Amino acid sequence: MGSFSLVLGIESSCDETACAVLKDGTEMLSSEIASQVEEHARFGGVVPEVASRQHLMALFPLVRRAVKNAGIKLEDIDAIAVTRAPGLVGALLVGVSGAKALAYALKKPLIGVNHLEAHLMAARLEDKKPEFPYLGLIVSGGHTALYNVKGPGEFTLISNTRDDAAGEAYDKVAKMMGLGYPGGIVIDKLAAKGNKKAIHFPRAMMHKNTLDFSFSGLKTAVRQYLDENMPGEDDLPDICASFQEAVAEVLVKKAVKAARQYQLKRWVLAGGVAANSRLRELSLETGKNNGIEVFLPKPEFCTDNAAMIAIAAYQRLKLGQSHDLRMNAAANESLF
Ligand code: KG4
Ligand code: ZN
Repeated sequence: MGSFSLVLGIESSCDETACAVLKDGTEMLSSEIASQVEEHARFGGVVPEVASRQHLMALFPLVRRAVKNAGIKLEDIDAIAVTRAPGLVGALLVGVSGAKALAYALKKPLIGVNHLEAHLMAARLEDKKPEFPYLGLIVSGGHTALYNVKGPGEFTLISNTRDDAAGEAYDKVAKMMGLGYPGGIVIDKLAAKGNKKAIHFPRAMMHKNTLDFSFSGLKTAVRQYLDENMPGEDDLPDICASFQEAVAEVLVKKAVKAARQYQLKRWVLAGGVAANSRLRELSLETGKNNGIEVFLPKPEFCTDNAAMIAIAAYQRLKLGQSHDLRMNAAANESLF
């Protein structure tokens, strides 16, 4: 087995093209992102065909930029890592095909990575790395799930959402209030000026004996509130803060319950919603009160990025794993 000092990571599963160079599995030499948010915003959500075309245009210039900003040459790369699942199939295929072309041309190993596994590893990009095993909470636009993370490539799914993902609820509620797409960051900002106790929105499945999540009822409750009260602009911060509190409280309570049940002393947050300020604050506070060490990756490591792809790949490469050029995208493959 060779050494994998320099890993090039490529991410194109959704609406962000990203490319990063990671040294020795720890040192991020560069991490570049080309966001397509503006292309999709006028449609109120991600349009798959638009995403594929944007990835195609962005990918190679971004690879060149990541290599240049890392202060290396393309030939110096030791392995090419790419998100192969899950995501939009056309979007994934752009990254996978590009990675295969690079691996073939450079005669370097290729490795496909599961996007969810990468999110779960993002906290290990920070100086203070969580030791295995740990509880992993993924909260993104497409997923809301708890995992028992036992080691690189060793996970068991603890619970999942039964309907919407937390990020999806943020995006839908933002749309209802006319706040545009994506909604998470806008709600986060408005909520900072509001009273989180102003409106009591439901906490789904809080008292049931399950670690599963559900966010569609909360979304409906917000819609009903908007229909019945016809709030004005000045009321939005209170609605945002109250909605945000309902999401954060359920996520944190279920995570702590899971940590206790599975006897895990460390808890890692991941995914776009993990960038949320109230969720971060409540997680730290509740973790501390329950003797659980909380690991919060920087917001730029929470949202989609390629450094997390590179670190997940590095760990797998060290275990002797890689793919050959027949590797394909697997749009629907989840993490168990
Ligand atoms: O992980 P991510 O970048 O992409 C997926 O894999 O889905 O997550 C995107 C989601 C979006 O729903 C976005 O609204 C949400 O993360 N998000 C936030 C915040 N920043 C991004 N939600 C709440 N608060 C934030 N600060
Ligand atoms: Zn993601």
